[in-house]
Amino acid sequence: MKSTLISEAKSTLPRHDDHPYRTGPWQPNMREYDVIEPVVNGVIPADLNGVYLRNTENPVHDSLGRYHPFDGDGMLHSLCFENGRCEYRNRFILTEGLAAENKAGGPLWAGLRERPEKSLRDGWGARTRLKDSSSTDVVVHGGIAATSFYQCGDIYEHDPRTLQPLGKASWTQDLTPGWGVSAHTKVDEATGEMLFFNYSTEAPYMHYGVVDRHRALVHYIPIALPGPRLPHDMAFTDHYAILNDLPLFWDADALSHGAYAVRFHRLPSRFAIVPRRGQPEDVVWFEARPGYVLHWINAYESGDEVILDGYRQDPARGVKTKGLPAGLAPFEILDINAIGAHAYRWRFNLKTGAVTEGPLEELLSEFGMINPRVAGKPYRYSWAMTTKPGWFLFDGLLRLDAQTGKRQHYKFPEGVFASESPMAPADNGIDEDDGYVLTFTTDMNSDSSQCLIFDAHDIEPGPIASIELPQRICVGTHAYWAGME
Ligand SMILES: [Fe+2]
Repeated sequence: MKSTLISEAKSTLPRHDDHPYRTGPWQPNMREYDVIEPVVNGVIPADLNGVYLRNTENPVHDSLGRYHPFDGDGMLHSLCFENGRCEYRNRFILTEGLAAENKAGGPLWAGLRERPEKSLRDGWGARTRLKDSSSTDVVVHGGIAATSFYQCGDIYEHDPRTLQPLGKASWTQDLTPGWGVSAHTKVDEATGEMLFFNYSTEAPYMHYGVVDRHRALVHYIPIALPGPRLPHDMAFTDHYAILNDLPLFWDADALSHGAYAVRFHRLPSRFAIVPRRGQPEDVVWFEARPGYVLHWINAYESGDEVILDGYRQDPARGVKTKGLPAGLAPFEILDINAIGAHAYRWRFNLKTGAVTEGPLEELLSEFGMINPRVAGKPYRYSWAMTTKPGWFLFDGLLRLDAQTGKRQHYKFPEGVFASESPMAPADNGIDEDDGYVLTFTTDMNSDSSQCLIFDAHDIEPGPIASIELPQRICVGTHAYWAGME
């Protein structure tokens, strides 16, 4: 293994840190590496060609006040596969916020757990005065790796192979000033388009838009909501975009006093179905049982219906873990087991307006990935994560056949934690599950990290190959697979 240390960030985090989401598997990395010929255990499949990218909440500095794991600065990890070989790199996402804090030698912004006025500077985000760390999501669109922030911010662009920074996306300049773009922009490989949304505490509270394959903004419309909401993800089919107004959002009274307290309201879940290039008057709303969904799995059209799959949260199905460290108490909402997230299906009939809904799977899971070639189209398979009780840590992989309900579950060894695990279709693959599932691990037993490669058909026997990384990496969440163009 020839690893090259590229640089090391100067952290100002506490020397003896005890934050549960900055220590152990969440301990951030300060070193950036290139590894041109990593050690491979087994054989990298010859029909696995493309780039696996993962974003990470990897703080260099503390937040002002109380730290939340989603405050962390962005760091990208990439593995580029070509003809049975691979290259690994990791780089910080040098956002405006991180650059300013590096210059100041410490934090300038308060995070999610504090009131915005505690920040020393204006900033970004629907809540305002947050640091846009661009640490939430990453996609590859038009040959560019684009990172984004869950509270809305700028889109930072990178070369997906070298991770060289390419600045901010120029197409966001024509959006509503100050709104930015939410995480979970959606790339449709079939058309080359990227769909997106943003949200704010100001009317109309949401917009939806389309960026074409040349990364030009070609469509942008308001989606009027009854008030400020907290949408996290969107979905699409061949002809429609699906936005949501779910009843988990900021308490209006608290908001009028400048506090951002998230509360569940006894209101229906509302879904907006809009033709992909539609106008505001084309939006059709459907209502379903109250609930919240962080991430959708996929959506598609079937006859008169639009079918939407996602992980519905139901605390009544959830299990709270006893005996956890006291420091974890404020982060219970991050525990998939406590909030009862499970795969669920909604069917919206465009002709009759009828809505039917129900669970797809009993086991709790989240962060589902599909073959990117079937995004927006009828599909069968998803590969999702199970989590360590009480924690925001991925401890297993769940393959679900939505057609038969058949599942496979692979549990990582105790002390080994994984990442959101994209499905990489095999070159010339025929069946939907012809391909591989990739994940970066954080192994607390051996103080090391690997990229594991699973056969997407059959995950239960464990990985078919693994690649050694130059250091134990901080766990992270959203990831992406982009095939060779
Ligand atoms: Fe997300």
